[in-house]
Amino acid sequence: MAEELKITVGSKEEKYRELVPQIKAVVEGETDLIANMANVASMLQETFGFWWTGFYRVTEGILVLGPFQGPLACTRIKKGKGVCGTAWEREGTVIVPDVEQFPGHIACSSLSRSEIVVPVKRNGEVIAVLDIDSKDLNTFDEIDKKYLEEVAKAL
Ligand code: SME
Repeated sequence: MAEELKITVGSKEEKYRELVPQIKAVVEGETDLIANMANVASMLQETFGFWWTGFYRVTEGILVLGPFQGPLACTRIKKGKGVCGTAWEREGTVIVPDVEQFPGHIACSSLSRSEIVVPVKRNGEVIAVLDIDSKDLNTFDEIDKKYLEEVAKAL
């Protein structure tokens, strides 16, 4: 297991290309989901300097805050609510270029401007979501979706 994160300088895609194998190596060496989520949140946040990176886990029919990096966040999100609850309901990634244009967006932080939420599945069922917030508009695109879905799969 890599003991220290190696961060590339370069384009977003180059960073993901270097980061994702490191994430896989870390995750493969540990069976505890929460420990892995904690390290994944850290590695993504360290590499990209997002505003907030973390997980919500499906717990007794509701999303409950899990490991994260960044400021204080709301703890519970219902299915279909906010970007996280929408990604859970749709069982697919949701990219929000401008949170003010997303009806029902849950503003845990007023500084968050754009967001991506990627479901984490086990046996085809959503067990958690990976949520990333940016202070800038239009931060996330198909490149983020592709690599973050790979990260979600590795969990
Ligand atoms: N904005 C999210 C809520 C979680 S925070 O961003 C950490 C949403 O609308 O689901």
